[in-house]
Amino acid sequence: MSQTSNTSALSLAASGVTVAFGGFKALTDVTLTITPGAVHGLIGPNGAGKTTMVNVLTGFQAPTTGTVKLNGTSVGDWSPHALRRAGIARTFQAGRLFTGLDVLDNLAVTGVGLGHSRRASETEAMRLLAWMGSSHLAELPAAGLPYTDERRVGIARALMFSPDFLLLDEPAAGMSEAEASDLASIIKRVSEELGTGVLLIEHNVGLVLSVSHHVYVLDAGTIIEEGDKDAILSSQAVRDAYLGAEHTEHTEGA
Ligand SMILES: Nc1ncnc2c1ncn2[C@@H]1O[C@H](COP(=O)(O)OP(=O)(O)OP(=O)(O)O)[C@@H](O)[C@H]1O
Ligand SMILES: [Mg+2]
Repeated sequence: MSQTSNTSALSLAASGVTVAFGGFKALTDVTLTITPGAVHGLIGPNGAGKTTMVNVLTGFQAPTTGTVKLNGTSVGDWSPHALRRAGIARTFQAGRLFTGLDVLDNLAVTGVGLGHSRRASETEAMRLLAWMGSSHLAELPAAGLPYTDERRVGIARALMFSPDFLLLDEPAAGMSEAEASDLASIIKRVSEELGTGVLLIEHNVGLVLSVSHHVYVLDAGTIIEEGDKDAILSSQAVRDAYLGAEHTEHTEGA
């Protein structure tokens, strides 16, 4: 885990990032920063470029232009594995647990992949499952878990050996409001108790606004607004581009 005295120097920062797929720009000149101990929201309509941004920050997609810096070091051409070892973890939009393994092994193999011993990895896995209140899942096969448990396990696995940054791509998709609210409290605990810097992508705007210290709004590959909950809710640009169509009835008069 990051040492408290160093946390102010820690950041994961994209600067002027553009990603072109042929002639199509999925991201244009995007600048955003993730800092430890805080939740950062990333919202925007379907196809806005949210997953592409996470891919850039985790080494799955090289930026066409622009830089990605981890604690000041340029990492735009690092592999996903190198970035995970350096402390940047993620979950995927679709679960992606190892379905042939039980829950404990799903976490433990991640630890082994990070270079830790089997025994240290199992100890870390049990610690994280207990922290999340999910110790009872340890021996269960990952295949066939209820999806709320599957998401928790995915987050626990991403948290193996205390990454400094955690990027969550739609962790509440398909959840009821009650389930999403449980998940929101776990995400808050990740930032507050573990000191992790979180980037939260969600279509559930209420969830994002309720837990995020700072929210970025992407539309068609461009950041059109950023700020705290009040700044986002009062933004005409956000209303027009994103909230307008889907949420007019909720935001009017709010
Ligand atoms: N590898 C690729 N090649 C070509 N186009 C791509 C590729 N990856 C993404 N895109 C396009 O880039 C745009 C942004 O996609 P992205 O998946 O980042 O959006 P998103 O905001 O995550 O959307 P959603 O809310 O549906 O998950 C989309 O138009 C998508 O079709
Ligand atoms: Mg996406």
